[in-house]
Amino acid sequence: MKAYMKNIFEKVYGDSEGVRVFFAPGRVNLIGEHTDYNGGHVFPCALTLGTYAAIRKRNDNLIHLYSENIPNCLVVERECGDYKIYNKSGAWSNYPYGIFWSLKEKGIDVKNGYDIVYYGDIPAGAGLSSSASIEVLTVYMLSVMEGFEMSLTDMAILGQYSENNYNKMNCGIMDQFTSAMGKDGHAVFLDTVTLEYEYAPLELKDKKIIIINSNVKHSLGSSKYNERRSESEAALAALQTELDIESLGDLTEEEFDNNQMLIKDDIQRKRAKHAVYENQRTIKAYNALKENDIDTFGKFMVDSHISLRDDYEVSCEELDVIVEEGLKCEGVIGIRMTGGGFGGSCVSIVETDKEEAVKKAIGDNYKKRTGREASFCSVLAGKGPYEL
Ligand code: GLA
Repeated sequence: MKAYMKNIFEKVYGDSEGVRVFFAPGRVNLIGEHTDYNGGHVFPCALTLGTYAAIRKRNDNLIHLYSENIPNCLVVERECGDYKIYNKSGAWSNYPYGIFWSLKEKGIDVKNGYDIVYYGDIPAGAGLSSSASIEVLTVYMLSVMEGFEMSLTDMAILGQYSENNYNKMNCGIMDQFTSAMGKDGHAVFLDTVTLEYEYAPLELKDKKIIIINSNVKHSLGSSKYNERRSESEAALAALQTELDIESLGDLTEEEFDNNQMLIKDDIQRKRAKHAVYENQRTIKAYNALKENDIDTFGKFMVDSHISLRDDYEVSCEELDVIVEEGLKCEGVIGIRMTGGGFGGSCVSIVETDKEEAVKKAIGDNYKKRTGREASFCSVLAGKGPYEL
């Protein structure tokens, strides 16, 4: 990959003398969806897929960005410090520039120009956090190039800050945290309030985790996402009129059931129910996995999907078809949509010896029912950012 990145750099900027190459991973969430901004738990793992960048200092104060993933991409240029305006035409460049901007906001003002090329092997819009990987990658490589100290957790927090305040997507911490803190062969069980976490080995013996991409891009995602977040916040405010809680993650299912009528709005009540139940489900699923009870883990995955579909309403027809077809297959232990929703991917645990048959059945039936092609990949849990 290093040679590949240097080649792109050479093509774009003329030569690749002194270029350094970095990587940060995407993620797949196993369970705990839309809980990270509701004071709950998540259980994702970083992937070996992600975003690469090749970078070199310039002798002036211009920051040049290029993406190999954008057809006919032109180099985007800005002067150091000039990040105020969100760039509508070069939309992808708002992720890296957002990091330069956020660093400046936090007192780290990059004064030296850079030539940078990006290339990602995560399909865009697949719900596997290509944007978080760009954010974590950018702050990580700048910390090396500029020589400032920042913990990986703080890099994740900066990435989220950038996404919230520059890209106006009110995401939680899950994606950036997983990209920054990923560990080979492990998933991360994270309390999104305290940021305390535990690594869990993903040793599934005769089973494996696969990702099924619906190839429906979750383009409506950010506006609907922000809407869900506001609905959850309104539900919390209604509960807080009587209950002394900080977030929906503070409630057990029973406490929620006993107090749900405080939420007068039917939609908001459904959103809150998902947040509470999904958080408790995530804790239980994590405990089941620790006890090697993969079947129970798989059942929780399916319950998670149903709740996301019916109560949180962030699934879509295509994701539901994949889950439905998956559940008809022998050897599927669990399956659900993963990530923000409205398109993107499903994640599934399957028996390894049934994998090919499962993929074929889901692929064929998905095509029949939606006219679309699904794509599949195996999950290899990878590590956080590094220099190649
Ligand atoms: C997106 C957000 C995350 C999280 C998920 C849903 O990926 O970036 O913070 O909220 O959706 O679980």
